[in-house]
Amino acid sequence: MNSCVVGLQWGDEGKGKVVDILAEHSDIVVRYSGGSNAGHTVVVDPDLIGTSRDSGSAVPDKIGVKFALHLLPSGVIRPNVSCIITNAVVVDPEVLLNEIETIAKKGITLKGRLFISENAHVVLDYHKREDQLREESLGKNKIGTTIRGIGPCYADKAGRSHAVRMGDLRNLQQLKDKLQTIVNYKNKVFTAVYNATPINADDIFEKCKSYADKFLPFIIDTTEYLHRSLGNGKSILFEGAQGTLLDLDHGTFPYVTSSNSSSLGMSAGCGVPAKYVDKFIGVVKAYTTRVGAGPFPTEQDNEIGQYIRDKGHEYGTTTGRPRRCGWFDAVAVSYSIKIGGIDEIALMHLDTLAGIKEVKICRAYKLKEDRGQRTEDGKEITFFPANISKLAQAEPCYETVPGWEEDITAVTDFNKLPSNAQNYISWIEKLTGIPVTIIGVGPKRSQTIFRKQRA
Ligand code: GDP
Ligand code: IMO
Ligand code: MG
Repeated sequence: MNSCVVGLQWGDEGKGKVVDILAEHSDIVVRYSGGSNAGHTVVVDPDLIGTSRDSGSAVPDKIGVKFALHLLPSGVIRPNVSCIITNAVVVDPEVLLNEIETIAKKGITLKGRLFISENAHVVLDYHKREDQLREESLGKNKIGTTIRGIGPCYADKAGRSHAVRMGDLRNLQQLKDKLQTIVNYKNKVFTAVYNATPINADDIFEKCKSYADKFLPFIIDTTEYLHRSLGNGKSILFEGAQGTLLDLDHGTFPYVTSSNSSSLGMSAGCGVPAKYVDKFIGVVKAYTTRVGAGPFPTEQDNEIGQYIRDKGHEYGTTTGRPRRCGWFDAVAVSYSIKIGGIDEIALMHLDTLAGIKEVKICRAYKLKEDRGQRTEDGKEITFFPANISKLAQAEPCYETVPGWEEDITAVTDFNKLPSNAQNYISWIEKLTGIPVTIIGVGPKRSQTIFRKQRA
């Protein structure tokens, strides 16, 4: 059984938690896109760390140990799981080293079970610098990136001649020459365009030398590894980063990331065709959040948004920025389901909505007048317009349903949820057309409701 977990909103849906849970039944977990812009949180009871035991044995009221993962696949906490970082991930070696050290301190070792694609591109200091300088130069028009060098690194990948891949660490002399050429070029841009100080190619090369020492044992042909594993009947879990609405081609461009972060990016991202995936699981929050700029039709920039932010601890895992919060948007999620071939939904943070008197779900958009040009003017539409000038005018049409007061963070059985919470889930299923099979009622593994047998 192979599954793919992917975000259906603008990221931070709770993919890390879902992957960690599903990894219990997986041999391999694959991170196939994005870079250290991702922040995937996993919260595990201390006595379960380093064991392959199920969440079922966890002690519910024990304080969990938190892992904030940026590049390592979220299956890493399970000791028997192999963790693969494939070709389409942009790897910042500094972040990865930091992460490996941090989890080692928590008792988790990666020896013999971490593999990184030789074709994965490397994020270097000049990428992060370029990201920052470009954002600063854009002023109020900035994208609101994570400043992790993601856009510039993917741009160099597409441009080819200035790209550095993990496999280049195998030939340091060649890399030294290449870096000199790249840095000469980057310095011209930094000084002439941004009036910034130049960077030093030797410093970057010295860092690369130390990366080579540390990473060469992990670097392999991950495509070959994955196909061999499929042939041997291994169970693979593919982990998406970001969310479908941040997809470079299918999201709310230009307020997106620089990779195909929908499930459409999975095949190119790791060299395994989608036909090998038995199930695509889309992760959503019971509401919507977004970090960074860009249209967000159901945003609640008011006391409701603040209530959700406070109760759900909605601050970025990677940057600490407050997340913009709003109602669940079934138009946007249905679009993500369609383009992603999604089979079922994992609905996270249901607990966060407790205490809200009336909960709203966006079931359609009404497009405002647009100089009378469009046939849809004033009409309700249910197909998400990824075109942002259209989306920016979309007025949400809501279904209002009664909320629930009860704390549900200890509920493990769907039938024990307050009837209004059950009703809310039915609405989501009705509007999106697919079943909600996993429900999150808190950050820990044990705070999860399964509506069908996992295997
Ligand atoms: P990801 O990027 O999709 O992996 O999501 P993040 O880790 O960035 O953000 C999700 C946040 O919600 C993390 O702090 C999780 O620990 C937390 N979380 C996940 N599921 C639930 C849930 O069902 N309820 C609550 N209250 N928190 C959750
Ligand atoms: P996970 O995997 C939420 C957003 C940034 C910004 C835009 C472009 O944790 O869900 P980038 O640095 O990629 O060039 O920024 O994309 N963004 C995310 N938002 N969760 C993420 O990852 C994100 N990764 C990028 O905030 O709006
Ligand atoms: Mg995140």
